[in-house]
Amino acid sequence: MRQLTEESLTHAVLAATDTSVDPRTRDVANALIRHLHAFVREIEPSEAEWLKGIEFLTRTGHTCDANRQEFILLSDTLGVSMLVDAINHRRPGNVTESTVLGPFHVHGAPALPMGANLAEGVDGGSPAFVEGRVLDGNGKPIAGARLDVWQVRPDRLYDVQDPEQPSMQLRAVFHTAADGRYRFRTVMPVSYAIPDDGPVGEMLRALGRHPWRPAHIHFIVSAPGHAPVVTHVFVEDDPYLDSDAVFGVKDSLVVAFEERPPGMAPDGAPMETHFHVAHHDFSLSAR
Ligand code: BEZ
Ligand code: FE
Repeated sequence: MRQLTEESLTHAVLAATDTSVDPRTRDVANALIRHLHAFVREIEPSEAEWLKGIEFLTRTGHTCDANRQEFILLSDTLGVSMLVDAINHRRPGNVTESTVLGPFHVHGAPALPMGANLAEGVDGGSPAFVEGRVLDGNGKPIAGARLDVWQVRPDRLYDVQDPEQPSMQLRAVFHTAADGRYRFRTVMPVSYAIPDDGPVGEMLRALGRHPWRPAHIHFIVSAPGHAPVVTHVFVEDDPYLDSDAVFGVKDSLVVAFEERPPGMAPDGAPMETHFHVAHHDFSLSAR
């Protein structure tokens, strides 16, 4: 293995992987080597360009900390997260479609009772009431299903992006009743820009792309004996539905948030302002 040339190099690197290594590791590593070499052969980078690429990845790593995951953001904005999601969740048509988890999920959100206000203590925003059912693949209600819910604040930041504010804002876990129903109060979801002050933002600008996501609420819906689903409810008519920065929109997840005049809310509360009402059922497949 000497005197390698532009032509013979790829084969030599592939052959260097020991035949005794775990087959999956070998397949993954060798596919990466083949695709990386093919990429380099296609673009024929100058040495300065190659270094620029390495510096970009180095900055991406340095941008990560306990609250910021720039590599997830890179995977999301390159459409890789949605591709991995699609490959891993080839579900039947009647089951709720999955979408990107994103970097802002936090474990340990408080469990709140049916009907509680997800947006308690949050400034601004117009009231919204969200309700629906969790069903199995045959349309039967699932009692005790868990809905882990999180949402961006009306100021377009997640709580974890703002250390000045209390944690666990707009985060809660709800459980369905015996009839499979869930409901909670919140504020109208708003569209927001994903963090674009780091390398991913640089990349988006270099590619002539914007960083906006259409308004949505995140859900992880799970129940014993069923496959959990990581998904969103998107707000119908949002201007970014057709250009989501992370390619996560699916038609079945776009929901009308009907505007209602002041009066009685679905939970019986008197409302002095306009409010919105959304209905969405989730459907889980058996494991
Ligand atoms: C989110 O919706 O929270 C999100 C998803 C992907 C990248 C950034 C944010
Ligand atoms: Fe989000």
